Amino acid sequence: MDDSVSNSDVRDVWDANAEFWDAHMGEEGNTFHRELVAPAAERLLEVQSGERVLEIACGTGLFARRMVELGARVLATDVSGVMVRMARQKFADASAPIEFRQLDAADPAQMGALPENGFDAAVCNMALFDMIEIAPLFQGLARALVPGGRFVFTICHPSFNTNASIRMVEQEDREGEILTCHSMKVTKYKGLGPARAIGIVGQPRVQHTFHRPLSNLLDPAFAAGFSLDGLLEPSFISAADSKRSLEMRNFAEFPMVLAGRLRLR
Ligand SMILES: C[S@@+](CC[C@H](N)C(=O)[O-])C[C@H]1O[C@@H](n2cnc3c(N)ncnc32)[C@H](O)[C@@H]1O
Repeated sequence: MDDSVSNSDVRDVWDANAEFWDAHMGEEGNTFHRELVAPAAERLLEVQSGERVLEIACGTGLFARRMVELGARVLATDVSGVMVRMARQKFADASAPIEFRQLDAADPAQMGALPENGFDAAVCNMALFDMIEIAPLFQGLARALVPGGRFVFTICHPSFNTNASIRMVEQEDREGEILTCHSMKVTKYKGLGPARAIGIVGQPRVQHTFHRPLSNLLDPAFAAGFSLDGLLEPSFISAADSKRSLEMRNFAEFPMVLAGRLRLR
């Protein structure tokens, strides 16, 4: 991929994809969101009634709405003005304790402008790999969260759900018994740099993705004063209709999502 990709390129792609994304996520989210992302994030976040929660990269606002249902007061943010507008239209009723705002989490100035000690918890679903830089996010959160505050993230699993993880299905007739084997070929992990990818098949524009090995993902968090104190690796439980299908659902052995909880020391 072209190294000169900028924050505004990332934003433009998401502005262009927002309507499509909204149509596919709908009111409840697609199966990936409903079965893998949201339950893991919710479990790690352990929202308590009355807590102030900051959401980074909220997209069309589904998880923000869920946190309000759980009793939180939510500031939901996203770099894409179109996403924010759609989320606001969908969910912000005047009485709900939820505000939607445009915010670029890769921009140190914008992260630094968040209120100091303003939030008990923060969450970012499926977006750290969209960001060119993640150090500004962790540094900003270290200031914006209360002491001991927590940050929960979900990402495509950096080992099994990247541009370099190739899903394979093989079938053999073993003495009259037809056997199907699903496996994964991982061609790159450490050296897999920025790339282009699609989140949902058919989306208008291919998105930029910034794969990070776990050490590169977590080092800036540790440097900003966080410790990792929760980790989940959700995978689909029930199989797809066809055993020969390459659908992710058939690869239950391999977690497609990594969810982590970081806490300020
Ligand atoms: C894959 S979507 C996920 C949206 C939502 N969290 C969900 O789970 O459905 C990625 C989101 O990250 C947002 N995003 C990308 N870069 C960002 C940045 N630097 N700061 C804030 N949001 C960003 C995009 O606009 C997009 O809404």
